[in-house]
Amino acid sequence: MIKINNLSYSVKNLNNEKKDILKNLSINFLPGKITAITGSNGSGKSTLIKTIMGILKPDYGTIFFKDINITDFSITERAKLGISVAFQQPITFKGIKIKQLLEVAGAKSFNDMCLCLSKVGLCAKDYINRYYDSNLSGGEAKRIELAMCLAKNGEVFLFDEPEAGIDLWSVDNLVSLIKNLKDKTIIIVSHQQKILEIADEILILNDNGYEIGPQNIMLNKIKPIQTCGVLGDQK
Ligand SMILES: Nc1ncnc2c1ncn2[C@@H]1O[C@H](COP(=O)(O)OP(=O)(O)OP(=O)(O)O)[C@@H](O)[C@H]1O
Ligand SMILES: [Mg+2]
Repeated sequence: MIKINNLSYSVKNLNNEKKDILKNLSINFLPGKITAITGSNGSGKSTLIKTIMGILKPDYGTIFFKDINITDFSITERAKLGISVAFQQPITFKGIKIKQLLEVAGAKSFNDMCLCLSKVGLCAKDYINRYYDSNLSGGEAKRIELAMCLAKNGEVFLFDEPEAGIDLWSVDNLVSLIKNLKDKTIIIVSHQQKILEIADEILILNDNGYEIGPQNIMLNKIKPIQTCGVLGDQK
């Protein structure tokens, strides 16, 4: 469904030196499969999500949706094909109500809105007339963003740390919400064991590149993060 070939992305640091964030990633994300992406902070997980969604343009490589080369497609064109994203840090706006966003996403009735919001643990009557702005708590904004993805009911779901900032309603409900999207292509960045356990495949990003494989094999490879030891070296 989503196929990336030799995808590379780099940034320039303050000294104008090139720093590779993603290097030659080639992965086929299949429908009906959950791929979890994990790895230490700064390893490039959100960068990968943003390149698939078209927010960042890769230096090299191609991205295919089915047989369509979408590498040069805009975010809107990708969204129209059925790719939706819930960001690590949701972007809120002033002056737009939650019901308007859910309508734009695809909810056709109050019942539809209710269903999408209840799936993320929110009661529609408390939220649909509220503005999707910075008065929402971080966890509420994240849940509403997930509800928008559900309302859209596309083919590819990109979730960047959906568990972050969400309270104890969270993990078990989130796990069943994701499992219920069973015929879709799910790409989900997570550090959460319960989410990694429902993945079919796990992609680990690290400084040396990446490794992808079946969940049971990859779970054993996830080791505690090693620090550079600078603090430990100070005597
Ligand atoms: N414009 C930039 N200039 C310098 N470094 C950048 C720039 N944009 C991104 N980076 C670096 O790219 C790396 C990857 O960032 P990214 O947000 O993809 O990490 P991540 O794996 O999602 O981390 P986290 O687990 O903290 O969410 C980070 O080290 C980040 O500081
Ligand atoms: Mg991130």
